[in-house]
Amino acid sequence: MVGELFNSIAERYDLVNRLTTLGLDRRWRKKACELALEHLIAERPKILDVACGTGDMIRCMKKGLEKRKATAEFYGLDCSERMLEVARRKVPFARLVIGSAEEMPFPDGSFDLVSVAFGLRNFPDREKAISEMHRVLKKDGLLLLLEFSRNGSLLGRLAWFYTKSFVPFVGGLLTGKEEAYEHLWRSIKVFPSPEELSEEFREFGFESLLLRWCFPRIAFIMVLRKV
Ligand SMILES: C[S@@+](CC[C@H](N)C(=O)[O-])C[C@H]1O[C@@H](n2cnc3c(N)ncnc32)[C@H](O)[C@@H]1O
Repeated sequence: MVGELFNSIAERYDLVNRLTTLGLDRRWRKKACELALEHLIAERPKILDVACGTGDMIRCMKKGLEKRKATAEFYGLDCSERMLEVARRKVPFARLVIGSAEEMPFPDGSFDLVSVAFGLRNFPDREKAISEMHRVLKKDGLLLLLEFSRNGSLLGRLAWFYTKSFVPFVGGLLTGKEEAYEHLWRSIKVFPSPEELSEEFREFGFESLLLRWCFPRIAFIMVLRKV
């Protein structure tokens, strides 16, 4: 069902992101990639972006590595064929695979870094997906999480109001699928706080390295390590 939802908005997904976040989503991804790369020690890492969508995280990670005169092998996984079609045009250098985060088609200990941006909230079985991300990571491998969450600060509450009232209207106008953008705030509402998530990850064998809220405190970045 989630795959169909994203199939139906794939062509306009990037445009809606840019407009509704006023371009901030790019800054959030860039910051997330920088923070993860600061902790990455492998020479030519293997990187997997889970729920890669249209490929923005992969593109961002590549740029971040190029700045450091480094390179990597890139993989992307997503359950929506239409999102992957867009990604194939944007990140032709990456190996893009259709599949589910809950059952990844990769052997144990394959990757130095696994990232997931705005995906975890959508997974029907979050625990299974976390255990899969743990399985496919090498020992000491990094997990980068970028996700929306509610924050009780004044700024966070204003951003929440905006997300609930304005985003479904604009998203609906541009894609004809207002329900997809209603799904956005509904899924954020029931999603655990970063602190609760960090505890959940700890139970699956991760240690939390850092947590950073992104302006205007509606999204956060977490970097974890497989222990
Ligand atoms: C909000 S988009 C995020 C896309 C991208 N990571 C980004 O930063 O823009 C969520 C993506 O997760 C994918 N997705 C949702 N559930 C999934 C699952 N169980 N397994 C794999 N991909 C999934 C959707 O198809 C969609 O492309």
